[in-house]
Amino acid sequence: MSAAIEVQGLVKRYGELAAVDGIDFTVSKGSVFSFLGPNGAGKTTTVEILEGLRRRSAGQVRVLDLDPWTDGAALHRRIGVIPQDFRFFEKITAKEAIEYYRALFGTHADPGELLANVELLDKIHARFDTLSGGQKQKLGLALALTNDPEICFLDEPTTGLDPHARRAIWAVIRNLKREGRTVFLTTHYLEEAELLADHVAIIHHGKIIASGSPAEIIREYGRPERITVVGPPDLAQYLESHVGLPTTTDNGRISIELADKRDALRILSAIDASGLPWESFETSQETLEDVFVRLVGQMDEGALKQETPT
Ligand SMILES: Nc1ncnc2c1ncn2[C@@H]1O[C@H](COP(=O)(O)OP(=O)(O)OP(=O)(O)O)[C@@H](O)[C@H]1O
Ligand SMILES: [Mg+2]
Repeated sequence: MSAAIEVQGLVKRYGELAAVDGIDFTVSKGSVFSFLGPNGAGKTTTVEILEGLRRRSAGQVRVLDLDPWTDGAALHRRIGVIPQDFRFFEKITAKEAIEYYRALFGTHADPGELLANVELLDKIHARFDTLSGGQKQKLGLALALTNDPEICFLDEPTTGLDPHARRAIWAVIRNLKREGRTVFLTTHYLEEAELLADHVAIIHHGKIIASGSPAEIIREYGRPERITVVGPPDLAQYLESHVGLPTTTDNGRISIELADKRDALRILSAIDASGLPWESFETSQETLEDVFVRLVGQMDEGALKQETPT
């Protein structure tokens, strides 16, 4: 698969601040790439450099084999963009907004079809200033698709949306991928990245601190899978001596980290063989959000220790 986006050694300085501090990544054509990071990490700066809206300080950037800064005009015909905090002319209707974009790009997109695609057809004649936050985001997404783009840059497209509206946007994103388009998705909703993204990069203070598929990141940085069983203290002791793995007990919840997948079967057999009463058990695995919170937390702690004189 060839690359839709290639970034090498990208740096963006604002005065003294290196908001993007030497990052490398590649986005394969037809994939969903999710760019994650805490507030101020450098996501929007990077996205806008890829879109040709901001000029980089250093590094190599190719988007659809073009340089976004010098070949901006050619690139803009081939990409769709929803900026963070999307805004539009207040008095224009959804239909007029799409017609405006259509004229701008010289395309023949059908407003009804585009709005139906994002579940906003009922607001085709509504003015922008009468749309709710989520409806504005949906219109933004429809506008981003007006020029039949090869890459869609979506900077926090679901922020502030209710759970139903977010799922509607997820369906649109899945559809974009099915149509062979590349999606560059920035989000603070980690479960969204876990569900949608083929590849994730986590940026923190301008540097990429982890990258890979969600499953790879969880495997590499996540804590091992665990079984938790609700039962009496005797059961914890029985399991320690018969399974040979350490247990931790919190409020009657006995928890055991699995060293191997088969440990789960040994633990369940031991619970049964113990003859002791138990109420319920569950297995759990860390999510991308658990891993994200810990990785970013560790980096911040490390930075604090370095700054604090001893
Ligand atoms: N035009 C600018 N001038 C000066 N500093 C800027 C400018 N734009 C962004 N910054 C700074 O660069 C850093 C990265 O900002 P950026 O908007 O890229 O973050 P982000 O990851 O998109 O954050 P968020 O999740 O809050 O949207 C921040 O410290 C921000 O204050
Ligand atoms: Mg941002």
